Amino acid sequence: MIDRYGRDIRYLRLSVTELCNLRCRYCMPADGVCKKAHDEMLTEDEMICAVRAAASLGITKLRITGGEPLVKKNIVSICSRASEVPGIREICLTTNGTRLPELALPLRHAGVRRVNISLDTLDAEKYRRITRRGELTQAVDGIHAALYAGFEKIKLNAVLIGGFNDDEIPELAELTRLYPLDVRFIELMPMVEGAGFGPEAYIPCTAVLDRLPELEALPPDGGVAKLYRLPGAKGSVGLISPVSAHFCAACNRIRLTADGRLKPCLHSGDEVSLKGLDYDAMVETLRLAILSKPAWHGELDRNHMSRAGRGMNQIGG
Ligand code: 5AD
Ligand code: SF4
Repeated sequence: MIDRYGRDIRYLRLSVTELCNLRCRYCMPADGVCKKAHDEMLTEDEMICAVRAAASLGITKLRITGGEPLVKKNIVSICSRASEVPGIREICLTTNGTRLPELALPLRHAGVRRVNISLDTLDAEKYRRITRRGELTQAVDGIHAALYAGFEKIKLNAVLIGGFNDDEIPELAELTRLYPLDVRFIELMPMVEGAGFGPEAYIPCTAVLDRLPELEALPPDGGVAKLYRLPGAKGSVGLISPVSAHFCAACNRIRLTADGRLKPCLHSGDEVSLKGLDYDAMVETLRLAILSKPAWHGELDRNHMSRAGRGMNQIGG
């Protein structure tokens, strides 16, 4: 469906849970989130109903996010039912990877075609620090499980944090020479109040180009990343710059949170609930939400926190 600014909205990001087994500093407060009452959250049937409603309005691509979607007990069933919804051509999933050793194959069989796996560092001690509790080996095992399961595309997401992982830009990019996967550097967004990042943490993605002048530009693929390749590499290096060069004019996505709130824009507090609605009411609510999608997300930098009103764990990366 075309919105008021001529953007063709085809992409729904569905967060299936707010919960996560990690506590990444840029995403969640240290003590996690209060588990909400069961009856406040969308049921599996409601999620599938919302996907059907969205598909009826022209959504073709679905991304399953969280929190961490793989801590959700019925995740395989949600993916396999969503993949059968007419009109949905592609299901992707964003995960921290730690549960992929058990779930990569079942998810692949359930129709998930692509996975994005978070990996901010290759250093076990730094991984523990940024995730506040994670074990790097689990994420790495998850990446290997994803490679083995044969997803059509595997992307590693690294949030670029000055003074934390900018010294690892070459090692992270090198993974695209060693394995058939893409690495994407994402600018740190000011989402979590008091996350403890100083001004030096907010660096633009161009730092990657400064560090790796041998990167060759690739033609755009319609996504939000600027694409490059190391000479001879199997995969691409992508730069995603929500802060230094926002891509709102090309934004084709809407979001649905695990508690049923539709968010036309990540960084806006505007939400409307789908919880408890039937199919027809969901279609109408989705239509109005798409029509209310703002032109852009407004100022966003270390002095202007996101107005999302929720952490990323509640919205879905
Ligand atoms: N800034 C940038 N990216 C973020 N993510 C979560 N929080 C932030 C943030 N504050 C993204 C990361 C992570 C995914 C789940 O969400 O890419 O890998
Ligand atoms: Fe969990 Fe992902 Fe948030 Fe980290 S970024 S706390 S892995 S949801």
